[in-house]
Amino acid sequence: MNTNSCDINDKEKSCCSTQVENEKVDFSKHWNNVYSNSPEEKLGWFETDLSPTLNLISKTDLKKSARILNVGSGSTTLIDELIGAGYTNLIATDLSSIALQKLENRIGEKKIDCIVDDLTQPTVLKKIPPVDLWVDRAVLHFFIEKKDQATYFELLNTCIPQGGFVLLAEFSLTSATTCSGLPVHRYSEKMLAEKLVNFELIESFEHTYTMPSGAERPYIYTLFKKVKP
Ligand SMILES: C[S@@+](CC[C@H](N)C(=O)[O-])C[C@H]1O[C@@H](n2cnc3c(N)ncnc32)[C@H](O)[C@@H]1O
Repeated sequence: MNTNSCDINDKEKSCCSTQVENEKVDFSKHWNNVYSNSPEEKLGWFETDLSPTLNLISKTDLKKSARILNVGSGSTTLIDELIGAGYTNLIATDLSSIALQKLENRIGEKKIDCIVDDLTQPTVLKKIPPVDLWVDRAVLHFFIEKKDQATYFELLNTCIPQGGFVLLAEFSLTSATTCSGLPVHRYSEKMLAEKLVNFELIESFEHTYTMPSGAERPYIYTLFKKVKP
């Protein structure tokens, strides 16, 4: 299995040199290997400019005490930015315990709650109190099976009460077909809106992310508000 971190810009627009076959993948092992084998700043999704996400979060007008759940957070520096901005109730969840350990080691374990769980087979996440904002950058697009997508959106709908928000940033329709050696399901604003029937679109935009390698990956960024129970 190739666990390189998306730093190759090949002709097939793959983030990595080898695509693995999904049915044979132990995803927990895959992601733990990725985070074990690469410095954070070399990961193919590492951001130095988090303004697309931060700008959308500012549109929610949520209080600094709002419960913000970052799903598939990995070891993202978004958490550092949110702590720096004064947010006090942050939860990071990921399939990779190694990614969350790296995150805790960097920011200090008392500053956030970390939950190791699988968004496609959630156990702990099913029982958490409601969240005011669900943030996903580059996670949903890895779920290519319909049943996994259904589980993801069911969990999201359960976790967010009426009045809450969801921010989804995924590979757009013109982006790469794989990332981290795994196939991805790409999205448009319309496709995301169709999945979020109880939500109303607040804002969306295209953003082209430049990887540490210099390769470009177009994303669709969306912010929705839950308007029906
Ligand atoms: C491309 S990385 C993005 C990380 C982070 N959101 C960011 O923007 O830096 C995808 C993340 O999704 C996590 N992930 C993949 N499948 C998952 C699943 N089934 N449940 C929870 N997390 C998952 C991976 O461990 C990884 O941290």
